[in-house]
Amino acid sequence: MGFDTADDAGVYKLSPEIAMINTVDFITPPVDDPHWFGLIAAANSISDIYSMGGKPVTALNIVMFPSKQLPLEILKEILRGAHEKVIEAGACLVGGHTIEDEEPKFGLSVSGTVHPDRVITNAGSQVGDVLILTKPLGSGVLFNAARAGKLPLSLLEEDLLPSLAALNGAAMEEALQFDLHACTDITGFGIIGHILEVAAGSRTRIRLPYSSLPFYAEAEAMYKKGVSTLSNEANRRLSHNQLQLKLSLSTQAEELLFDPQTSGGLLFSLPASQGQELLDKLHQRGITSATIIGEVIPGEIGIEVV
Ligand code: CO
Ligand code: CO
Ligand code: CO
Repeated sequence: MGFDTADDAGVYKLSPEIAMINTVDFITPPVDDPHWFGLIAAANSISDIYSMGGKPVTALNIVMFPSKQLPLEILKEILRGAHEKVIEAGACLVGGHTIEDEEPKFGLSVSGTVHPDRVITNAGSQVGDVLILTKPLGSGVLFNAARAGKLPLSLLEEDLLPSLAALNGAAMEEALQFDLHACTDITGFGIIGHILEVAAGSRTRIRLPYSSLPFYAEAEAMYKKGVSTLSNEANRRLSHNQLQLKLSLSTQAEELLFDPQTSGGLLFSLPASQGQELLDKLHQRGITSATIIGEVIPGEIGIEVV
């Protein structure tokens, strides 16, 4: 599996029993704290293995760092955070590579395994499915607000940062006990962008009641204050004629649909009859933000927000 349906990772069958999953992801610092940066960047990189139904096995650090401008202690904190996550995921850190750059960037190249018959793609969604999302939305604008001094980091540390640093592995472990038709993680293209990939890959139409979408506290308020992100406009353009807004939304409520996520939640598509049971399992597992956000309906490929 490669580029065809814009999936989260590449998958290569090594034998009838085992397929290898490969992915790479790196980001600029979401917040001005190196330990959180390492935790979140690593959770974000590892997520693409989980979203394919796999288990992470090895990881390599990818580092860009201005070693003449910043103390090496900062780099150590980034790497410490990432290593904590790799260990928590049950994987091994086996190396990496560093180059000089003006702004720090960090991520992992992660390899994982999956049974070739148990690969979960973003392209298997079916009419009659419900969609479950495991983390709230709106992290993009909150990061920019913190950077602009409009939100203190200490506020983000209460709720947002632990949520983003949480691995998606536990959620996937629960979902794999069900008839899981499709999965992807919600990252840079925002909720609409990634659901459109599911809709296009699965040739389905998805109905999202706006009121069912979970957002982090303060996210809408920050759009109201005029904060946005560099990706909102591009994400909106990506959705052009495949997104139908069937209700009238305030500008800031609409912007939330295009807010880019870092280390966002998993989106599961499974039969409606199993939705509530999976939701209960996720809640029992401590994934308390998990919620049903929509359903797959007959009709043209695309999304309607109602
Ligand atoms: Co992904
Ligand atoms: Co990714
Ligand atoms: Co090298």
